Amino acid sequence: MQISDLPKHIGETVTLTAWLQDKSGKGKIQFLKLRDGSGFVQGTVFKGDVSEEVFEAAKRLSQEQSLTLTGEVRADERAPSGVEISVRDLSPLSDAVGEYPITPKEHGIEFLMDHRHLWFRHRRPWAVMRVRDCVQSGIVEFFRSEGFTRFDAPFFTPNAAEGTTELFEIDLFGEDKAYLSQTGQLHAEAGALAFGKVYTFGPTFRAEKSKTRRHLLEFWMVEPEVAPATHGDNMDLQERFVSFLVRRVLSECRLELEMLGRDITKLEPAAEGNYPRITYTEALDIIRQHIEQSDLPDNVQADVQPVEWGDDFGAPHETILGYHFDRPVMVERYPASFKAFYMQPDPADPRLALCDDMIAPEGYGEIIGGSERIHDFDLLKERIEGEGLPLEAFEWYLDLRRYGSVPHAGFGMGLERFIAWMTGIDHIREAIPFPRMLTRMFP
Ligand code: 4AD
Ligand code: MG
Repeated sequence: MQISDLPKHIGETVTLTAWLQDKSGKGKIQFLKLRDGSGFVQGTVFKGDVSEEVFEAAKRLSQEQSLTLTGEVRADERAPSGVEISVRDLSPLSDAVGEYPITPKEHGIEFLMDHRHLWFRHRRPWAVMRVRDCVQSGIVEFFRSEGFTRFDAPFFTPNAAEGTTELFEIDLFGEDKAYLSQTGQLHAEAGALAFGKVYTFGPTFRAEKSKTRRHLLEFWMVEPEVAPATHGDNMDLQERFVSFLVRRVLSECRLELEMLGRDITKLEPAAEGNYPRITYTEALDIIRQHIEQSDLPDNVQADVQPVEWGDDFGAPHETILGYHFDRPVMVERYPASFKAFYMQPDPADPRLALCDDMIAPEGYGEIIGGSERIHDFDLLKERIEGEGLPLEAFEWYLDLRRYGSVPHAGFGMGLERFIAWMTGIDHIREAIPFPRMLTRMFP
């Protein structure tokens, strides 16, 4: 029997294996806060209901000690799970724990992160990781239902793809060099030309020196790639994908969102779809209006820098866009100058790229970056050389344009950014089991 199954067994006597989270009570009654991995429930021990030894054993239990218990399942409207257990019998499975480090008092985030290996047992990280699991399986389900083939990209790559400044270099026995992959995209393009619709899903690495709430050194990215496809098809797919995942989280993770105190009404518009699509130039106007009118939350207003046409947006600018709309917004056609080399130019204005970023509401920033890819051999070669990238490392990539090239497109969504938004946590480090950042490699 698992705690999550208890609501189906009201009135029955059940036996559970669980851990003690916390305990209170006095005199003739003990309240045991229990968890078993599947959920959380309170057990009540009345002195009159149990033997003397059992009552004394309950009083001696320490935090995180494991135990088995038998009791009657009772409906309890005040409990989030809807039930509690009237304990009849219990016995410890492990010795008393001694000083378990994470006590019910308040701890600082660094202390909790130092004890990440234990912290998962507690409600908040437990709920966030359950949402992560729901999103991960949702990703697989969505792409299966749309006829995609999962196509894994390597983690060691011969070339840069998203800018050479953020590359982790690997020494290959002093003979050669490889890099930790910043994106699976280039390899996914090979897959798209073979299978039509593919997606990669795995860890990616960026040597980002910035210490922000949105950056990890190691994060998971899901990257669909479709051939043939246009920029417009790509944005349609992004909207279907993100709204599907939001609906899934809302329907399958109600309890987790409640435990996290997430305001669900803020997520509901994103479940509907109809995401606005605006150009970079329109986005710039919106941002500048808000800066001028100073109608932003204080922390945003304090951080924000003026921005001119041709500048990339910083995190505060994305935050402004996130406050302006009640659901994700797709900002398209950025100046090509600060975007990746492989993006197809806009035929209407070649200064622009046929790309888009999806910006989440409530200040969660960019969750998706995507584009149509250059399919013309000569133009792509020119761009690779223009970036100062070594042509030999890209010969295989150019082959995709030599042999049967078609317009194709794809995007990448950062899993942890998406999860941070769903769960309402304010730092991405809590969206992955063991975050890797400039300031954290432990545990
Ligand atoms: O916008 P990016 O750099 O796009 C690409 O890598 C493309 N190759 C994707 C593609 O078209 N297949 O990264 C995509 C997403 C971002 O929108 C963000 O959600 C996430 O990856 N991301 C990060 N997440 C956590 N930590 C970091 N350091 C991240 N860098 C990017
Ligand atoms: Mg980006």
